[in-house]
Amino acid sequence: MKSNWFKQAVGYQIYPKSFRDTNGDGIGDINGIIEKLPYLKDLGVDFIWINPIYKSPQFDGGYDISDYYALDEDRFGTMADLQNLMMQAHSMGMKVIMDLVVNHTSNQHPWFIESRKSKDNPYRDYYHWQPATPDHLPNNWISFFGGSTWTIDEPTGEAYFHVFSKEQPDLNWHNPKVREEIYDMVRWWLEQGIDGFRLDAISHIEKAPWDFEIKSFKDNSPWEPFMNVAGIEAYMAEFKKLFDEFDALTVGEASGVSSKEATSWTDDHGYIDMIFELEHSNKDDNGQGDLKLFKDTIMRWQEDLLARGWNAPYLENHDQPRVIDVLGDGTEASAKALAVAYMLLRGTPFIYQGQEIGMTNFDYTDISQVDATDTIYLYNEKLAEGLSKTAALKVATVNSRDHSRTPMQWDATENAGFTDGKPWLVINPNYLEKNVAAAQTNPDSILNLYKFLIQLRHEYQDISEGHITFLFPEHPAVLAYKRGEFLIVTNLSATPTTITFERPGHDYQDMVTQAIVPDLLELSLESWAYRIYKKIKE
Ligand code: NOJ
Repeated sequence: MKSNWFKQAVGYQIYPKSFRDTNGDGIGDINGIIEKLPYLKDLGVDFIWINPIYKSPQFDGGYDISDYYALDEDRFGTMADLQNLMMQAHSMGMKVIMDLVVNHTSNQHPWFIESRKSKDNPYRDYYHWQPATPDHLPNNWISFFGGSTWTIDEPTGEAYFHVFSKEQPDLNWHNPKVREEIYDMVRWWLEQGIDGFRLDAISHIEKAPWDFEIKSFKDNSPWEPFMNVAGIEAYMAEFKKLFDEFDALTVGEASGVSSKEATSWTDDHGYIDMIFELEHSNKDDNGQGDLKLFKDTIMRWQEDLLARGWNAPYLENHDQPRVIDVLGDGTEASAKALAVAYMLLRGTPFIYQGQEIGMTNFDYTDISQVDATDTIYLYNEKLAEGLSKTAALKVATVNSRDHSRTPMQWDATENAGFTDGKPWLVINPNYLEKNVAAAQTNPDSILNLYKFLIQLRHEYQDISEGHITFLFPEHPAVLAYKRGEFLIVTNLSATPTTITFERPGHDYQDMVTQAIVPDLLELSLESWAYRIYKKIKE
């Protein structure tokens, strides 16, 4: 049985490159995280998840690791710094989890450097190699970052497999030596005192047989041959044994694991503690989210994991544009309604850095401002199709991951208090008004609302672990639910609306204003309204 501390907990995701730079190189670092621990403690978070800080050529923001046992010291700091971070976080009652990226390595990893040398190299079988010619690739699968999943490589003339970029070759999990290497490495990190992992791309470690053909890119998911493919269970069970030994906190990025399957992945005997579902965040060509999809997905995951399993609700991460501009309308009111809507769900909610102050998307004006590989790939693809630079930039950046990677806005001083040097990525000019320091002094800020929501989670078991019942499931804009004595209602739109409850009405106290709401039968909701009501005992 797993321990359950995480059921009361709130996580905070740190994208270290953009969090806080203490040595003036323009890139955030471990000491920057240490500096901000009191801020995180004050916010109320129970653990932090740090995006990859391992040695990496940074082709994909550190998700291309060239040494699993080493930190990227030039950018982020030393093992001693990390030990110091863990010590300080632990002394403040916060845990620290790291990213675990084991679907693939960097093409600069010594295993791959060896593997590509010859067909009989001892490391050949650490990766997936197949005979290929430019006209005859092993299959028609396409990679997440665009183009084929196969890249033909000299000197052997064979192709290797990658579900992300060609700089991120996939490891061959069939090879017991690979698994052993990975488990040894995981054990080593846990022995260093890490409290757990966010498991990157974990549902891709098993692949379908190479002759699986994608028939129609429209009807079946092009990712089907490498998403939660049968056979993965055996590897996850091996992982679980190891995680259990250390009582490690584990969160899986597991696309393709359905809400029904997630029960056995995350229940008391499951492989991991919780899953980030990736179904709710579709966006259209104008960067607008789909509220119906969001609401339906959230409700389905909450309901399917009610009897068994555990959710990890989130709105933002380092791969998504800012939610205030996706599901919200750019206003603080929309950021607040969204915060209430998801922070009081069942599960362990995650807040992504900057979300708590309503950081927004960046208005990209030139491709040189962009770092994300997939955005640059798309930009070049659009140029090749004949689009003008301006049009290509618009298409490529509208849903770019770099919106959420601009540096954290701490205060109104130069470079938003992020760095004394030249920031590695553009800073959003709205930092002058939108920053942590300003939010701290405003009792009505988004930040203070987040603090309050976290307190509610910590104080009331009804909210952390209680049942959930959704109300008005068909309403196009209202997300409302009951958690024990609590009634949570949000209007996720700018259009005012009125909802009517079934008789008999109940008496509530508004947890925000303390006002008494007698005999609630009808509720008028202004634009982006939220209500957190607690039943008054009869
Ligand atoms: C998911 C990560 O969140 C993303 O940033 C990364 O590009 C891919 N996995 C590949 O590791």
